[in-house]
Amino acid sequence: MANIKNTKYYGVYNVDGKLATLSIDPGARIHGEAIMRDGNKEYRVWDPNRSKLCAAIKKGMKTWPFKKDIKVLYLGAASGVTVSFISDIIGENGKIFAVEFSPNSMRDLVLRCENRKNVWPILADARLPEKYGFVNEVDVLFEDVAQPDQERILIENARYLKRGGVAMIAVKSQSIDVRLKPREIYKKVLDSLARNFEILERFELDPFEKHHLFVAMRKK
Ligand SMILES: C[S@@+](CC[C@H](N)C(=O)[O-])C[C@H]1O[C@@H](n2cnc3c(N)ncnc32)[C@H](O)[C@@H]1O
Repeated sequence: MANIKNTKYYGVYNVDGKLATLSIDPGARIHGEAIMRDGNKEYRVWDPNRSKLCAAIKKGMKTWPFKKDIKVLYLGAASGVTVSFISDIIGENGKIFAVEFSPNSMRDLVLRCENRKNVWPILADARLPEKYGFVNEVDVLFEDVAQPDQERILIENARYLKRGGVAMIAVKSQSIDVRLKPREIYKKVLDSLARNFEILERFELDPFEKHHLFVAMRKK
């Protein structure tokens, strides 16, 4: 039988020494992740090399806005790996609006998450948030898009974040400018973010992801 402990991150468990979430879709796997069973409960192992949010936990992130029943706007959903773990954490009565502009990735996400009723796939460009006005108001905004205008996309989408809500971004320096040193880019991005949010914490995601800065912020 697996040894299961709570962690300080709501909805995230330590199962035999690995981070995992309690699946709301038992029997289904998103990317071939390992499954640990405890009676009829199924825990999905969360790999920090496949998910920047999990990497941020491994790096000791202090901010953790995720809880049961909340609403999340997720930009850069890809085929739904991190989306599926957040979907487990927020539970069936939460909502995660998953924005992705690649039709192929979106097709995979829809197929993999079809039994997850809390995942709302949105095929759209996150640069045009007015296209998904029905999102209305969310508790958490998360972005992982690897684009040159990453921070502007976050700022534009913060229109949907409630006051006091938490925004998180994984900034990929190589997508912004390969000629500058990552830390020069991080400084510029942080200056811009600080004009729009209260910065709560920031740290690099190595060794899980190279050239990525993770920033957690609060909407003023
Ligand atoms: C690094 S991958 C995201 C991985 C995903 N967050 C995960 O952890 O499972 C970046 C994704 O952002 C998407 N993307 C990039 N620019 C976008 C935009 N402007 N609007 C929507 N999606 C975008 C890409 O198609 C790609 O699937």
